[in-house]
Amino acid sequence: MSYLMSNYAPLEVTFIKGQGCYLTNTKGQQYLDALSGVGVVGLGHCHPDITTAIQSQAAELLHTSNWYHIQHQETLAEKLCTLANMDGAFFGNSGAEANEAAIKITRLHAHANNIDNPIILTVKQSFHGRTMATLSATGNPKVQSGFSPLVSEFIHIDFDDIDAVKAYSDNTDVVAVMLEPIQGESGVIVPADDYINQVQSICQTNNWLLILDEVQTGIGRTGKMFAHQYNDITPDILTLAKGLGNGVPIGACLAKGEAAKLLTTGTHGSTFGGNPLVCKTALTVLEVIERDKILKNVSVMSDYLLAGLQALSSDKIIEIRIKGLMIAIQLNQNCAGLLNAALQKHLLINITGNSIRLLPPLILNQNEADIIINTLGELIGEL
Ligand SMILES: Cc1ncc(COP(=O)(O)O)c(C=O)c1O
Repeated sequence: MSYLMSNYAPLEVTFIKGQGCYLTNTKGQQYLDALSGVGVVGLGHCHPDITTAIQSQAAELLHTSNWYHIQHQETLAEKLCTLANMDGAFFGNSGAEANEAAIKITRLHAHANNIDNPIILTVKQSFHGRTMATLSATGNPKVQSGFSPLVSEFIHIDFDDIDAVKAYSDNTDVVAVMLEPIQGESGVIVPADDYINQVQSICQTNNWLLILDEVQTGIGRTGKMFAHQYNDITPDILTLAKGLGNGVPIGACLAKGEAAKLLTTGTHGSTFGGNPLVCKTALTVLEVIERDKILKNVSVMSDYLLAGLQALSSDKIIEIRIKGLMIAIQLNQNCAGLLNAALQKHLLINITGNSIRLLPPLILNQNEADIIINTLGELIGEL
């Protein structure tokens, strides 16, 4: 019997070691990890620079609390704000906490503008986390089911539909739009090229905040440091987590302009958030991404995977949705069984609806990409 609660249903495998794109199970068998721990270990498992950073920081200082200055936290805030053209950072321990901070900032923005019952427009099929506020923001009834009463004042509109945003222009209670630039959990849904630009322009006209949840798309996943950089815009609030720590728990909420000034002393906090260990690790992640030209590798491998997947020319493949190393292969039939079938072939994938979803490490090489393409070719062929 297990003493764990039943909220997860793990596959029948236990990994005890990782190296690069590979994981090793208790029997010493290797698996190619085409999911990166759900978009987390962008630099691969046990990257030597990350391991060294963690070891040396652990030997120096793990934790002090935020009642004192934390050098690495201040450096990381400056680094992230410089990269994202932002003015201020708050650190928590997860994507949900980064989004909670964003929602709290938005409430403060509303009250500063004398709006008592502020509404945030969020979108259908979005995913923002599992805390009460973030699951309320999430546009997926399955995530919300059983947890009512939800945090109210989120209105879910259609994604990639600019008229749906415009329709609220006269609503004086709306204060923000919150979205993922590319929807991850719902199966890599990529909007029209200028969708985010148009949303931003409506936000600016109405004095609404634009909150971009880049928990999954950020830190190089799409081939830019942040996915919104394809749109050449700067949001008011940007949330990050997953790839930022390469496996250590860290989330960041960055804000620009007035939004960066709203959290004042005592209004928000986190015991562990932004401690020396996680901030040193995140700084090292950013250094390695720059030093090893990881973004370039993401673009090259993205093109390579797309070409290889297209060359499978299976009539079971309806569509391939891809941005950098966020990939979904939509099939013409239910493919839930592929999860275990892939596991038998020592390939870790995710199934979302009728799509195979991949989030391989950003350090993926051609040989590993070939294994993914060939194994998927076999799996789809056997369907
Ligand atoms: C876009 C997005 N936002 C928020 C979250 C929640 O992050 P966490 O599980 O770290 O709380 C996720 C997790 O998958 C995500 O994909």
